[in-house]
Amino acid sequence: MNTSLIQEKFKSLFQTTGDIYTSPGRINLIGEHTDYNGGFVLPGAIDKAMYCEIKPNGTDKVRAFALDLGEYAEFGLGEKDLPAQSWAKYIYGVCREMIKRGATIKAFDTVFAGDVPLGAGMSSSAALESCFGFAINDLYQLGFDRFELAKIGQATEHNYVGVKCGIMDQFASCFGKEGSLIRLDCRSLEYQYVPFHPEGYRLVLVNTCVAHELASSAYNKRRQSCENVAAAIRKHHPEVELLRDANLDMLRETANEVSAEDYIRAEFVIEEIQRLLDACAALEKGDYETVGKKMYETHIGLSRKYEVSCEELDFLNDVARECGVTGSRVMGGGFGGCTINLVKNELYDAFIKRATESYERKFNIQPKIYDVIIKEGARKLE
Ligand code: GLA
Repeated sequence: MNTSLIQEKFKSLFQTTGDIYTSPGRINLIGEHTDYNGGFVLPGAIDKAMYCEIKPNGTDKVRAFALDLGEYAEFGLGEKDLPAQSWAKYIYGVCREMIKRGATIKAFDTVFAGDVPLGAGMSSSAALESCFGFAINDLYQLGFDRFELAKIGQATEHNYVGVKCGIMDQFASCFGKEGSLIRLDCRSLEYQYVPFHPEGYRLVLVNTCVAHELASSAYNKRRQSCENVAAAIRKHHPEVELLRDANLDMLRETANEVSAEDYIRAEFVIEEIQRLLDACAALEKGDYETVGKKMYETHIGLSRKYEVSCEELDFLNDVARECGVTGSRVMGGGFGGCTINLVKNELYDAFIKRATESYERKFNIQPKIYDVIIKEGARKLE
């Protein structure tokens, strides 16, 4: 993205220039709703990002302008200064989480914008948190490492936005590397870069352009189900802290102790953690057919067991299957947003044409198509 509009606006609002930082959105190849269960994920940062220009202003008020929305906010950084605008809560939350960790932060001026589509499951909010986390850390030389910056972004979601998310999105935004996916153990935060250049295939997102309401409360409910089941299993197996530590046999023992709904959610998670490991083994051998099969299995699980899909996403998944696409599934938290598709080069054009036309015919919405380009994570722009 060209940052010249951000710079023009910054100059006209504040009559000076600041430093420019950026942090990206992410994709996730497989491993959904596993992060808050201590499992594995396989995300990568993408070429769509948030950008901010920022400069300390010597006052006690942050002055912030959201260029894409045309909205301005002013707020202090004290405990009681929570701003009203939802986008400003992210910036304020990041600052507060840093202050809680002992940082001294003075107020600043900022203008920000981005090209991560909102509500598309590509983590625009993590991009925003990581962009400001990285910028403020660098500007005031606070000395937080990238692990801590990811946790600061996650804590912002928990404490100022109300989404009890896992660590995947912020981690990918902070640790992204060009051309590589990140195989992340969400409990230990150990990670490996997995070079991803699937020869003969393309990775493409199809955006339903629907974002369902109440997605965040439904998300928190899923997390609660997982915690309920982990607690039930722990009674029999004290070593089980999170569903990551459980297997299907352990789950079966709790069948009469947890609700049917919680049970089926947990079953999905335990299966999904294994699916990710299987997909990683297949990736190592360059076996994309197996990776694709696992993606379809994930979709079915997310749709029927975890129930975070919707009619539009299921439709696009069916179209992918009918077109012979190697792998396809809903990506991210769900309830709308994108499908991620692993498609052979020679099928790409036919798939995109059919998906676009048939989706538009059925839902009267034009879906958006994004070719996935894997790029590096949070950084300062020189
Ligand atoms: C959202 C959350 C992540 C993760 C995914 C589902 O993107 O922010 O932490 O739980 O959903 O995998």
